[in-house]
Amino acid sequence: MTEIPTTIERSEGRGSLHEVLASPYYKDTLCTIINADSRDVMHKLPSGLVVSDPPYNVGYHYDGYKDNLTTEEYQELIRSVCPLPCVLIHYAEDLCALSWTLEEIPEKMVAWVYPSNTARQWRGIAWWGCKPDFDKDGQDYRNPNDKRIRERIARGERARLYDWWEINQVKNVSNEKTEHPCQIPTDVMRRILKITDCKLVIDPFAGSGTTLVAAKQLGIPSIGIERNEKYCAIAAGRVARENALGLAG
Ligand SMILES: C[S@@+](CC[C@H](N)C(=O)[O-])C[C@H]1O[C@@H](n2cnc3c(N)ncnc32)[C@H](O)[C@@H]1O
Repeated sequence: MTEIPTTIERSEGRGSLHEVLASPYYKDTLCTIINADSRDVMHKLPSGLVVSDPPYNVGYHYDGYKDNLTTEEYQELIRSVCPLPCVLIHYAEDLCALSWTLEEIPEKMVAWVYPSNTARQWRGIAWWGCKPDFDKDGQDYRNPNDKRIRERIARGERARLYDWWEINQVKNVSNEKTEHPCQIPTDVMRRILKITDCKLVIDPFAGSGTTLVAAKQLGIPSIGIERNEKYCAIAAGRVARENALGLAG
């Protein structure tokens, strides 16, 4: 069984790691899900890489959470639960604002691009306090009909990963769709984790558990925090299904 590291760097007098992990919502050998407000528990957790798609603070309708904090409250939320190193997904302008909040310039930014009928066709992914290694993954060639490229494909080669990721959003008809209103594709989270060094992934806004599912698929220990119990149940179900698939495979 893989134990979660127990180095506590943010625990000054506000409860212990043991206390937080004593009664998780869900726990298996790699993944722990905590049903709580991340502001109450992040400082008690071991250090890890924070990877998250935070609430966008645009008045979105989550079950039981008002996505309309004041700018100051939102900045305080992000500052308190997204210590560096962290990787966050957001719209481009908001990533600039997050840099202001985190008081750091990202080491790297990537565009996640998807076809949609809305004005927004892409989001940014930014790495603060850490860097992705693009040699750790590849992607499909853009010109598969070129003679030389056909030969490379026949040899099993892939194109270098570039900073423009075309990955469809999770739609109502997608196989992975859950009841969570704004689920991120597992392919996005898995690629982030595949190219970013980490021994423990922490998602302080776990939602339906996509980061945790991606971590499980890659064999990386993870902790997810989600304040809504219904979303914790969805996340736990998804992670548990990965166990079953892993056993079956
Ligand atoms: C953008 S969604 C994350 C979606 C997730 N990436 C997925 O694929 O399902 C943000 C989530 O953060 C949760 N949330 C908001 N504030 C929170 C807080 N202070 N602590 C824990 N969870 C919070 C919301 O309930 C929502 O599920």
